[in-house]
Amino acid sequence: MNTHKLIDGKANAARVLLQVREDVERLREQAIEPALAVILVGSDPASQVYVRNKILRAEEVGIRSLEHRLSTDTSTEQLLMLIAHLNADRSIHGVLLQLPLPAHIDELRALEAIAPDKDVDGFHSQNVGGLSQGRTVLAPCTPSGCLYLLEQTCGDLRGKHAVVIGRSNIVGKPMAALLLRADCSVTVLHSRSPSPQLLCRQADIVIAAVGRPRLIDASWLKPGAVVIDVGINRIEDDGRSRLVGDVDFDSVLAHVTAITPVPGGVGPMTIAFLMKNTVTAALAQHQALRSQSEALCRSIY
Ligand code: GUN
Repeated sequence: MNTHKLIDGKANAARVLLQVREDVERLREQAIEPALAVILVGSDPASQVYVRNKILRAEEVGIRSLEHRLSTDTSTEQLLMLIAHLNADRSIHGVLLQLPLPAHIDELRALEAIAPDKDVDGFHSQNVGGLSQGRTVLAPCTPSGCLYLLEQTCGDLRGKHAVVIGRSNIVGKPMAALLLRADCSVTVLHSRSPSPQLLCRQADIVIAAVGRPRLIDASWLKPGAVVIDVGINRIEDDGRSRLVGDVDFDSVLAHVTAITPVPGGVGPMTIAFLMKNTVTAALAQHQALRSQSEALCRSIY
């Protein structure tokens, strides 16, 4: 295999996490203990694995973590009460609500209830809007991780043509906003795009986030393209269950400059950027408190 073409998510995530650990130590020296609350409603098996990994990774880098497991029949009101409680707790800096939620819960209301400065997933409309204005805000973790991999692989992204395949709120749309903020020309393709292959073949950079196993083959790619595969699809292959991406890895490898494998590509980056966002949130909240108290002192004396 052309291993020199592989974009190693594990190694890049380890580098980000090393920096996060150093940042956590520096915050602890100032008596700030970064803390992340993770809420899981129901018993979706994949979500349970994701949440466990998030908690484990937080412990590894010195971030205090609190896990709130709620039963499937939790009401929207009960969930909102827990979020309000976590918002008010100054010792907690990040609040993450694991998706998907049970169908009866009002997802948008729940996500909007998380205080924007604790919204380490970057899903609150204030952060979504800020990102689309090109501002530095808490941005969604998976696309942030993809952008980091692209910067490490391609260097300067300015002027590159990036095609994002998929328009989800978690990956496709924020990915497009981050690439625009990095001065790429951005095309977003989705299930209603006519001739997606033709458009995709013009791209220097392709980000596949559609959730369709091995949809993208060499006919979609310009020779030498850089490919980021966000898909994690479980398939049965020769009677064995295994994970594959949205890109037909084996058939495109000879065709590309670089590509993320599945697993071991984008996956580890998501958690690394969740940790990074938690530290960023802790620092911002501490600075906001300090300027509030300084303003109060000025008004008294
Ligand atoms: N479910 C799948 N991906 C994510 C994510 O990035 N954040 C949350 N909260 N839930 C998810």
